[in-house]
Amino acid sequence: MTIAQRLAGRTAIVTGAGAGIGRAIAVRLSQEGAFVACLDIDPAAAAATVALLAVPGVAATCNVADEASVAAAVATVVEARGRVDVLVNNAGIAGPQEPALSTPLDGWQHTLAVNLTGTFLMSRACLPALIEAEGAIVNVASALALVGWTDECAYGPGKAGVVQLTKGMAMDYAGRIRVNCVCPGAVRTPMLESTLPPSADVEATFAEYGKIHPLHQRLAWPEEIADVVLFLSSDDASLITGAALLADAGFTAG
Ligand SMILES: NC(=O)c1ccc[n+]([C@@H]2O[C@H](COP(=O)([O-])OP(=O)(O)OC[C@H]3O[C@@H](n4cnc5c(N)ncnc54)[C@H](O)[C@@H]3O)[C@@H](O)[C@H]2O)c1
Repeated sequence: MTIAQRLAGRTAIVTGAGAGIGRAIAVRLSQEGAFVACLDIDPAAAAATVALLAVPGVAATCNVADEASVAAAVATVVEARGRVDVLVNNAGIAGPQEPALSTPLDGWQHTLAVNLTGTFLMSRACLPALIEAEGAIVNVASALALVGWTDECAYGPGKAGVVQLTKGMAMDYAGRIRVNCVCPGAVRTPMLESTLPPSADVEATFAEYGKIHPLHQRLAWPEEIADVVLFLSSDDASLITGAALLADAGFTAG
């Protein structure tokens, strides 16, 4: 028996596709038949992801926080493919690991520029093509959009904004496209490691982080988030829009 691929013939754009969760998403969508455009601020990282895809895709350099860079990258994909069915706004940064008093203004602004404004800019640039294709946007927010956390002054507010952008766009474009977001708990990626001080015992610290995720008492793997993004991208989620889907192994349940 042949099982139909869920994204056969569709074109997807994944931002921040050069590492971590974005790389896993690009690979997973391509395994389901999608042509994936891998956008990243780091061109070598994006190219490395393209080499892993099941369906030949394309790499494009893009800083999601820069309007001109976004416009150029999206135009390249639309000209080459003539359509965009799925946009995954995954690119993000951890930002300053500081409470408010010691968070510099430029660190605050840069975090919001990438994590929130980048999601807006990419979504706006892709909207005409997404509407034509009756497509879907999946934003990668965070469980930290929903609960407070220490020493993450800029990150949580930016991700809370992504949840609100998701809901507002879901209403504005209902009947034309679906807009959802996934809210992961802690995921084992280069970003998570970058938040640890240089002196930290990485494995011991990650084991501690695992304990606050009751379901498996471990960190998530990027591939587990990619499966959720695939679901929200596909027709399996035809009834779902405006959702902030927790994929946090129970981190926020208590
Ligand atoms: N790792 C976690 O624990 C975790 C938890 C919840 C949510 N998230 C979110 O998941 C997403 C991916 O995180 P990750 O952990 O895989 O990060 P990562 O740092 O491992 O990978 C992020 C990728 O985004 C790229 N990038 C950074 N700034 C960019 C920009 N301005 N324009 C385009 N590309 C840019 C980087 O080059 C990198 O390839 C982020 O939005 C993050 O906030 C991560």
